[in-house]
Amino acid sequence: MNHPALFTPVTLGTHQLPSRIVMAPMTRLRAPDAMPNAVMAEYYAQRAGAGLIVTECVMISDTSAAYMGAPGLYADRFIDGWKGVTDAVHARGGRIFAQLWHSGRVAHVSLMPDGQAPLAPSAIAGVGELHTPAGKQPLSMPRELAIEEVAGLARAFGKAADRARRAGFDGVEIHGAFGYLVDQFLRDGSNQRADAYGGPARHRARFLLEVVAAAQQAFGPDVGVKLSPASRAHGMTDSRSAETFAEVLGLLGDADLAYLHMMEPLAGDDQPDLLLASPSAFARRHYVGTLIANGGFSGETAAHLIEQGGADLVSFGQPFIANPDFPARLQTGASLAMPDYGSVYGIPGQPLEKGYTDYLEAAAG
Ligand SMILES: Cc1cc2nc3c(=O)[nH]c(=O)nc-3n(C[C@H](O)[C@H](O)[C@H](O)COP(=O)(O)O)c2cc1C
Repeated sequence: MNHPALFTPVTLGTHQLPSRIVMAPMTRLRAPDAMPNAVMAEYYAQRAGAGLIVTECVMISDTSAAYMGAPGLYADRFIDGWKGVTDAVHARGGRIFAQLWHSGRVAHVSLMPDGQAPLAPSAIAGVGELHTPAGKQPLSMPRELAIEEVAGLARAFGKAADRARRAGFDGVEIHGAFGYLVDQFLRDGSNQRADAYGGPARHRARFLLEVVAAAQQAFGPDVGVKLSPASRAHGMTDSRSAETFAEVLGLLGDADLAYLHMMEPLAGDDQPDLLLASPSAFARRHYVGTLIANGGFSGETAAHLIEQGGADLVSFGQPFIANPDFPARLQTGASLAMPDYGSVYGIPGQPLEKGYTDYLEAAAG
C-alpha cells in the first residue's frame, strides 16, 4: 500500500473516517435555478471513496449572489434535491458535509434579488469580476449591513444548517475563506464597523462565532470551519493578519469544532500574505483541535505532513475533478488523470455531465 499514513482511521466530530483524505469543496456550477439534482448526486457518489466529502459552497441566502449555477439551501424546497445527493453518497459508504456560504460583497447587482446592492460589513468594494447575464462585470459596491441584519444572517446560517441536517448531511462546514462574507468580517481591510462586529479582532470574529453557534444548534459537534488567512482573493487585506488570525484561532479552539480547515497559499495566488506563509503550521501553534490542511498537496506531501504531526487530515481539490477514485489511485499508485479546465465550471446550455461525471474510475488492478 502507498502512503499508509493517509489510510489510518480518524475521528472527526461524531464520525469515524476510514482515511485522512478529504475531498475539498469545489464549486462546479451544475445547479440551474440553485436546485441540486440527480447529476450532482452521481458526481458526489462517484467520489464517496474519500474519507469525507465537503460539498461546493451552498447559498444560505438568496443575497449570496456571486455565481449562476451555484446550489442553495436557503429554503425548504432545496431539501429533497440534497437528500438525493446524501442518499447516493451514503449508499456508496461515504460521508458528506455541506459547505455553507454567503458571498457578501462578492456579488453583482444584476444577480441580487430586486437588483439591490450586495451586503457587506462595510461599504467597501471587493476586487474582481463575476459572470453576469450581461457578461463579465466588476463586483458591485456593497452597502453596510445594519446590526440587526448581521445577527439575522448568522441565524440564516443556522437555518441552512438545520435544512442540511434534514437533507441527510453528516455535518456542515462554514465557509470562512476566500474573501466571502465571513472572511470580510474577520479582516480589517473590509470590516471598518464601529459596532460590536467591528474594531478589535475578537469583535471582528463575533459574526463567525455566532454563525458557528447557530450551526451547532442544528449539528452539535459536526461543524467545521474553513479559513484562508494567506489569501488576498477578492481584495482581502488585514493590517495585522498574524495577530488577527491568532486571536480568531484561539476563539475557534474554544468553540468545539469538528475541525479547522486551513488553506495554504496557492501557486496562482496574487501576493499571498507572507506573514502567514504556512497557515496550517500557524494553526498548529494557535488552534487546539482537529486540523485539515489544504492546498497543492500530493499524496506524498500529504502523508509526510501527517507523519510529522503537521495536520490530522489533508484535503484535495483539483485531483478529485478528473479522478473520482482518487483515494484508491493514491493507495495503489495508479496514475492520475488531468482535468479539462475548460469544463470545470458548468456552462449554461451545455450538458451538466460534461467534464463533471464523465471522468472514469481507473481500471481495477
Ligand atoms: C474549481 C474549483 C472550485 C472551488 N470552489 C470552492 C468552494 O466552493 N469553496 C471553497 O472553500 N473552496 C473552493 N475551492 C478551493 C478548494 O477547496 C481548495 O482550497 C483549492 O483547490 C486548493 O486545493 P488543491 O490544491 O488540492 O486543489 C475551489 C477550487 C477549485 C479548483
